[in-house]
Amino acid sequence: MASSSTAVLFLLLATAGIASAALSRERQFLDPHNKARKAVKVPNLSWDPNLAKYAQNWANKQARNNCQLKTSNGPYGENMYWTSWSSTPLEAVKAFVSEKKFYNHASNTCTAKTKTSCLMYTQVVWKKTTKLGCASSRCPRGGTITVCSYNPRGNFIGQRPY
Ligand SMILES: *[C@@H]1O[C@H](CO)[C@@H](O)[C@H](O)[C@H]1NC(C)=O
Repeated sequence: MASSSTAVLFLLLATAGIASAALSRERQFLDPHNKARKAVKVPNLSWDPNLAKYAQNWANKQARNNCQLKTSNGPYGENMYWTSWSSTPLEAVKAFVSEKKFYNHASNTCTAKTKTSCLMYTQVVWKKTTKLGCASSRCPRGGTITVCSYNPRGNFIGQRPY
């Protein structure tokens, strides 16, 4: 009897451990998104496990495809990030938000030079987007590919993010 309730307790602890590890990875993606949104007074995103699954599938697929930053052309907004090293969720979101310095809200224009743009940042702070799901995959030759999916999608031409 005693040993069986011990086993149950261990099982509960193990499950709680998994849940909190998963939560902290969500938080690592979600919190810096919400921080960037708060800075411009846009409401929080919430985490959507189905979007995270979608992002994971695409990250895995692109990992097998030499970690190319190719969009999935799906129904969601999408930001992608690739590093040759093993990068964290926070590094990915920081890279998206780093485009903020090029974005001029007054004129809704982007002063970034070719190859970079403001579209990753404007998706992060897109007001009508309410849900986020992100995931990473390891690249076969090292490095990390990260995908964040956004619903509803942002970046409609001619509209301001907020
Ligand atoms: C918004 O999100 C942040 C971080 O994700 C959290 O700390 C904060 O409590 C949230 N605010 C609201 C109003 O839900």
